[in-house]
Amino acid sequence: MRLAHITDLHVERPARAAELLNKRLLGEVNLHLFGRSAHFSKVAQEALPAAVLAARADAVVCTGDLTATGTDAEFEAARTLLRPLDALPFYCIPGNHDVYTNESVGRYARFFGETGVRRFDIGPLDLCLVDVCVPDWLSRGEAGPATLQALDDALGSSTRPTLLGLHYPLRNRRGEVYGPPTRALRNAAAVEALIEKHPCVVGVLHGHEHHGFRTRVGPRQVAVFNPGASGYAWLPKKKRTAHFNVYDVDDAGIVGVERYAWNGSVFEPESGGAYEGGG
Ligand SMILES: [Fe+2]
Ligand SMILES: [Fe+2]
Repeated sequence: MRLAHITDLHVERPARAAELLNKRLLGEVNLHLFGRSAHFSKVAQEALPAAVLAARADAVVCTGDLTATGTDAEFEAARTLLRPLDALPFYCIPGNHDVYTNESVGRYARFFGETGVRRFDIGPLDLCLVDVCVPDWLSRGEAGPATLQALDDALGSSTRPTLLGLHYPLRNRRGEVYGPPTRALRNAAAVEALIEKHPCVVGVLHGHEHHGFRTRVGPRQVAVFNPGASGYAWLPKKKRTAHFNVYDVDDAGIVGVERYAWNGSVFEPESGGAYEGGG
């Protein structure tokens, strides 16, 4: 089967005044005064669903940060944007931007459904999604004791190869522990320990770091993929653009990877093969 992986769309809509009395005020300053808003492209975001369908995906996984600051307007826009993908099985978890403030908590579920730890039969193997995002003044995530126990139980009861999906990287592009700690999963080591404990885990999919990369984790050298932000603007001088991945999956795991890059007009397979174009 062909599994598409999208992540970090960062759909942005202007916040209302009443929504600015918290961390979001800093976020809006960051977005508009310091130009972060220009890092993302509505045109690329809107082209993404059709490109995923054109890439002959059988199912889609999204590893979070659908929105910029977790408002109703942004969730509504993200949900509307992704409607064309309703034709496919769609598996999704929130990112840290989707639980941007305490008042954002619960909003993701209203628009995108259940979260927590969930395992899905996606055909040749299982997909286990774990939500490790919590509101935080910085950008940190945490898998609490209940989440780790639920993940241990979900992986322990699996009889099939399993892809693990979470928002945060465990390792950086060089295979080192991901950082800085201000924007990382605090207890990534505990999640890594569960990957080692459960050999059914044959691949890890994540987002959060907007420049995509592939790496490996743990003594078993489990393959890890981050497409890079799917909502990024086309900024070739900064070597930055939107990406998504399509994995060929069989009952052994991921056996092939295509990475699609936005060229300012369309998404096309990365020239030279997946991850050869950088960004
Ligand atoms: Fe992000
Ligand atoms: Fe993130």
